[in-house]
Amino acid sequence: MSNKKEIEVSAFIRRAGTVIHNFNAGPSILPKEVFEEASRAILDFKNTGLSILEIGHRTSLFQEVMDEARSLAKELMNLNEDHEVLFLHGGATTQFMQVPMNLLDENEIAAYTDTGVWASKAMKEAKLFGHVDIVCSGKDSGYRALPKNFNVTPTSKYLHITTNNTIYGTQWQDLSVFYNAGVSLVADMSSDILSRDIDFSKFDLIYAGAQKNVGAAGVNLVVVNKKILGKIRRVIPTIMDYRNHIEAGSLLNTPPVFAVYVCMLTLRWLKKQGGVPAMESVNNAKAKLFYDTLDNLPIFKGPVAKEDRSRMNAVFMIEDAGLEKEFLDLCKNEGMIGVKGHRLSGGFRVSMYNALPLESVNALTDLMKYFANKLG
Ligand SMILES: Cc1ncc(COP(=O)(O)O)c(C=O)c1O
Repeated sequence: MSNKKEIEVSAFIRRAGTVIHNFNAGPSILPKEVFEEASRAILDFKNTGLSILEIGHRTSLFQEVMDEARSLAKELMNLNEDHEVLFLHGGATTQFMQVPMNLLDENEIAAYTDTGVWASKAMKEAKLFGHVDIVCSGKDSGYRALPKNFNVTPTSKYLHITTNNTIYGTQWQDLSVFYNAGVSLVADMSSDILSRDIDFSKFDLIYAGAQKNVGAAGVNLVVVNKKILGKIRRVIPTIMDYRNHIEAGSLLNTPPVFAVYVCMLTLRWLKKQGGVPAMESVNNAKAKLFYDTLDNLPIFKGPVAKEDRSRMNAVFMIEDAGLEKEFLDLCKNEGMIGVKGHRLSGGFRVSMYNALPLESVNALTDLMKYFANKLG
């Protein structure tokens, strides 16, 4: 077994010797200290001589991990006892189905905002369980702008929004526009959860695949207001029923132990940084630096409506598409990972999640300026 020293050295080489700037959209960068702590726990968890990968999920050792992860999430979101935090199997895609299965009866309507691929996938699943009312759509703009008006039928069971659209680089800036819709609010926050100081208590259900701002892939963070459950006639399969997970303390069956552990470490880190408000101020600084640079360099273009620009995923293009490869090659040589755009949007996309340091955005914007200057 490698000793503690060796592990620390390898983490140092990865993060300091070879400078890597990880702009991946997800799975994505996590804090260095999370990698260090998690790698130590793989070899020896809490001086037990056992790996975190081989401990039982019903042991007090793991119970402590689960309890801390749930309570940290609740604390960071400022939630009271109405809301329960769960760590569930599957990515956000599982929630596209689990949400309507738990909340929507066959004869009922759910309101959905159509803001791109992930929202469409959520709607597709909801249609399997009830009626879907698309209350607004950004389709006409190619999803590069968010729709400005929407009308929710008061009898709708809930309103579903995608707070940040990872592929197109749009983000609802003012979530309060949804607070008075008069129906339960459900949000897919996969790509911006815990990145800005919002009133999480306004949402009756929040879900997020962990692999961007919360931790490792393979687990979902789900926050649910107990009061909205148990209001449908359908019989829900045991593993799909949120109430069973709440009753079992998020330990209904074997959870993804390691993924939950990494979430717990990431949430601990987030708290140490000063919580969500501190994250928001760093994220604002990164986004400002990036977009100011983009707007000052005529060879680059930002296709997203300025008022809807995401602080998490910035999508941009180059005026002369023939230069795309040259810029990507340059990024690669400079250790910048994940700059290529999503196949549906083209161009470039850089993800600036919580764990991405300001220095990485600094390095990228310097490179953009260098590239622009080089081309005269
Ligand atoms: C906003 C959003 N929703 C849902 C998903 C799907 O997540 P998963 O792959 O965890 O199912 C993603 C993936 O990137 C996403 O960005």
